Amino acid sequence: MRIRPAGWLMALGGLFVTGAAAAAALSAGADPEATVRLYANVCSGCHGAGLEGASASALLGPAFRISWPHALGLFEFVAANMPLGAGGSLRAQQYWDLVAHILRRNDVRVPEPFTAERAAETTLRRS
Ligand code: HEC
Repeated sequence: MRIRPAGWLMALGGLFVTGAAAAAALSAGADPEATVRLYANVCSGCHGAGLEGASASALLGPAFRISWPHALGLFEFVAANMPLGAGGSLRAQQYWDLVAHILRRNDVRVPEPFTAERAAETTLRRS
């Protein structure tokens, strides 16, 4: 079996990721550094470098978490609508990575593998 590494992730010393932008992806295993960079490039302008909010709302904290019962809903919203005006412009894997990044910054454990099924079971709310 041949694994097709995503060159830019590999160049950053990341783990293997398959080229396919399958929904059932291994987001949590993707290179967090590359994801931080991706977030900085495409999201931070509106949501703040530390997700603290800027022109758009914060992607952190209790008020944010309460509005997202589970990570799958968050993925679907972000993939369809973000970056604002260019929803769907990134690969599915990149959206999964960004959602994993948001979860981590909210101290929510990212399941591995981060599949749609597992995301549906991952709550952002504190019990
Ligand atoms: C051009 C500005 C802009 C960019 C770039 C942008 N967003 Fe947004 N985002 C918004 C606005 C406006 C809203 C809706 C109103 C609000 O939350 O301020 C929003 C809402 C959201 C929400 C829901 C917020 C909540 O309170 O529940 C998430 C999650 C989100 N964006 C993630 C992202 C991610 C991830 C990226 C990068 C791929 C991104 N956004 C890029 C402007 C932007």
